[in-house]
Amino acid sequence: MASGKTTVGRELANRLGWRLFDTGIMYRAATWQAQRRGVHLDEEETVTELIRDSEFTLLPAASGESVELDVYVDGDNATPHLRDTAVESGVPTVAAIAGVRTLMVEIQQAQAAEGCMVVVGRDIGTVVLPDAPVKIFLDASQEVRARRRAAEQQNGADEASVLRATQRRDARDSGRRTSPLVVAADAVFLDTSELSLDQSVDAAEAIIRERMPELVDGIARSAGIATSEEG
Ligand code: DC
Repeated sequence: MASGKTTVGRELANRLGWRLFDTGIMYRAATWQAQRRGVHLDEEETVTELIRDSEFTLLPAASGESVELDVYVDGDNATPHLRDTAVESGVPTVAAIAGVRTLMVEIQQAQAAEGCMVVVGRDIGTVVLPDAPVKIFLDASQEVRARRRAAEQQNGADEASVLRATQRRDARDSGRRTSPLVVAADAVFLDTSELSLDQSVDAAEAIIRERMPELVDGIARSAGIATSEEG
């Protein structure tokens, strides 16, 4: 079954010996910060001000084997809180605030300049890293993504209702005022609907090796690769 962008990105980073920067953690950490500081998420200016005044730091994950990054806000590790129900439901509101996006994009660009990494997010190829040496746009049919989400959620949600939610989310994402979901013109489109995780990672790795011939023995001289996907 098709795998999501974070899972594919993680495996890819493992194979290449790179870090994984899943940019969704930034919007989740911003949401957590607003909630713990008691700011109403609909108050765009107050949220933006709070985020501007907060210090976001990305560090290699505390667990040594992980290729991922932990995110700290004002010195506190937000990582254990990023999948909390409150964060999960609040993050689309925060991610839609233009002022927050501007601040997050700056941090993401600085982080990506640190070296070779797999950067995952919907606006990476278009907004964050328009000059990334490789851009891969992962996609899968709505049915496959709905099945994947239903399995991930493990809360007994039936596939039909998850499919309806997926369709609503797609419509909202591509119609969004700030950073709507757009495929970068120079991105390689990779449909994972019929691919296993291994096959998806094989395909992504092949694209990278073809586009970055200097990538020998896992060492690339060029910095940054962006994968972006729906959802
Ligand atoms: O990929 P995710 O579920 O962790 O993303 C969390 C939220 O942040 C979701 O609402 C999409 C949004 N997001 C975004 O708008 N831009 C990104 N580059 C990454 C995530």
